[in-house]
Amino acid sequence: MKIAIVLYFIKTIEENYMLPQEFIRKKRDGESHTLEEFREFFSSYLRDEIPDYQVSAWLMAVCFRGMSEEEALNLTQVMAESGEILDLSKVAPNAVDKHSTGGVGDKTSIVLVPLMAHLGLKIAKMSGRGLGHSGGTIDKLESIPGFKTSLNKEEIFKGLERVGCVMVSQSKDLAPLDGKLYALRDVTATVESIPLIASSIMSKKLAGGAKSIVLDVKVGKGAFMKTLDKALALSYLMVDIGKKANRNVVAILSQMDEPLGNKIGNNLEIMEAIDTLKGKGPADLVEVVTITGAYMLLMGERVKTVEEGKELISKTLESGQAVKKFAQMVAYQGGNPKVVDDYSLLPHAQYKEIILSPETGFVKEIDAYKVGVANMINGAGRRKKDDEIDYGAGIVVKKKIGDKISLNEPIFDIYCSDDLKVEEAAQYLENAFIISQEPVPHSKHILEIIS
Ligand code: URA
Repeated sequence: MKIAIVLYFIKTIEENYMLPQEFIRKKRDGESHTLEEFREFFSSYLRDEIPDYQVSAWLMAVCFRGMSEEEALNLTQVMAESGEILDLSKVAPNAVDKHSTGGVGDKTSIVLVPLMAHLGLKIAKMSGRGLGHSGGTIDKLESIPGFKTSLNKEEIFKGLERVGCVMVSQSKDLAPLDGKLYALRDVTATVESIPLIASSIMSKKLAGGAKSIVLDVKVGKGAFMKTLDKALALSYLMVDIGKKANRNVVAILSQMDEPLGNKIGNNLEIMEAIDTLKGKGPADLVEVVTITGAYMLLMGERVKTVEEGKELISKTLESGQAVKKFAQMVAYQGGNPKVVDDYSLLPHAQYKEIILSPETGFVKEIDAYKVGVANMINGAGRRKKDDEIDYGAGIVVKKKIGDKISLNEPIFDIYCSDDLKVEEAAQYLENAFIISQEPVPHSKHILEIIS
């Protein structure tokens, strides 16, 4: 009898077993995967039984063939369940999470997380590293010497109790499958796929345990979604995945044709985020922080209307008080909290190049994608999975679209610790801007809100 049962199970496993190449072929030929197939393929990948090259081939097939809504939902579930799902009901029952789809100069989370915690909204934010040409919140935070982004469940809960916020990466415990796929997509040109982005983001948010989520969906040259139509499709898919998982989700679509703020690069973005918490942030970043934060306060029941939320955020930023919460979070996660007053504690670059305007006129274009690529060339991002980052490398954008500029006035400052890379980045940036003789309007930052 026992032997018969064992044989039955072996036969069933064999019948259901799918070779990795068969799984890849299905997607290459535009077929759909079942939840069970996702589970089998990715549990083998997590055990290192399937190599990166087979998963890369599958990712590329998804970029060309896409996925159904049901597949995206199933993949999200498998990714979220690859680690622990936090239960915040006791520590932070009204917790609200946020996530950006990625852009250039996007340090919104680094401002918002301590700001929300200062205003009484606890937040355990799971973020990613640099992806493609876009920067990553985790790389930026790791430019603070000693800052530890890999926390276990107990450390996250303790941080929520003691400080009110933590910022962590995917880890062995939290969304490990997203961590592996994310690093692979970064270097295989397989980022720009609506279902892959949606499942990557929503798996982190489901694992993070918050009931309400605000998504900052970037649109434009420096975003993964270049057009409003594609950004809307991504937003609806993420809102739908959230709804089916019993979460309240709002998506805010914001402009990413030019970089957000003026500073791009890991250490530089930490400085700009701290400046913003002290009430000295650039207007576009402040606007995105204000509207995103207002929705978070509303969903977390800290205010009754979005307008009330906006006013509270404006007043708090002007007061500069929330920077103390950032310092507390840095200290809790092992970094030196004195960075908030002393930027010399951050890594700095050895070389600086300045790009000057070749004519007088108005800035018509600062191409965020090209600035992002130049910043990778410059050493602030990775070309291969295990590349070391130059935390001091970065670019300061001296002018925004619509600004006046004179002949020989600086348009970009480039910082780097490798003289060859800084030269290469400078050459690339020569084609990243356009000057017009006609006046140009300043960009609109918030494009649409879906709730
Ligand atoms: N942010 C993520 O976490 N994942 C993506 O795929 C894109 C942006």
